[in-house]
Amino acid sequence: MPYTLLANNSYLFASGLLGVLVRPANKEDLPGLMWIEHECFGRERFSRRYLLSLLQNQEVDVLIGMVEGNVVASAMVLHDPSTIRSRILSLAIIPEEQGHGRSKPLLTHIEELARQRGSLIVFLEVRVENDAAINLYLGRGYRIGDRIPDFFGRGEDAWYMERALL
Ligand SMILES: CC(C)(COP(=O)(O)OP(=O)(O)OC[C@H]1O[C@@H](n2cnc3c(N)ncnc32)[C@H](O)[C@@H]1OP(=O)(O)O)[C@@H](O)C(=O)NCCC(=O)NCCS
Repeated sequence: MPYTLLANNSYLFASGLLGVLVRPANKEDLPGLMWIEHECFGRERFSRRYLLSLLQNQEVDVLIGMVEGNVVASAMVLHDPSTIRSRILSLAIIPEEQGHGRSKPLLTHIEELARQRGSLIVFLEVRVENDAAINLYLGRGYRIGDRIPDFFGRGEDAWYMERALL
């Protein structure tokens, strides 16, 4: 996916009709991150405290996606040098911006950061009924692994998905 490197580690991806600016999040983005979590995950959103801990964790990259100056997306990925694997903790596009190819630049960027950290595998857990996310990852070359019972709570199973980074 073509992109342009801007100042401050920001990347402008040509995607859909409008470009998506992807940049590292900072503490000032906390309200925006909380809003996206609320819009996308409702009661199952990450708490303020957890988001803050992710922002402060050196092994985590937290990304913000912007369109025309507005925050519309977020992504979080945890790198584990000991296993050379990176785990996608969250990837979210606000509902109004879904379905326009916004997620692909974020996923591309996540994978690039994982490569830079030396990871060989990117993995995640996704709700078994989350067709949009499952299709997104399948289209990107992820494979479905085990079904994890009760991963998101009682009766709420997840698929484990992973992709080898080349
Ligand atoms: C999953 C999510 C990130 C996808 O973002 P998006 O910007 O709407 O997706 P895109 O428009 O970039 O589409 C990328 C691919 O996802 C799949 N997809 C997207 N929306 C879909 C839908 N409603 N149904 C089925 N597949 C869908 C398609 O494979 C699509 O590729 P294509 O356009 O080449 O067919 C978004 O729906 C979202 O934020 N959902 C709520 C939070 C969430 O569930 N996050 C995933 C946690 S693992």
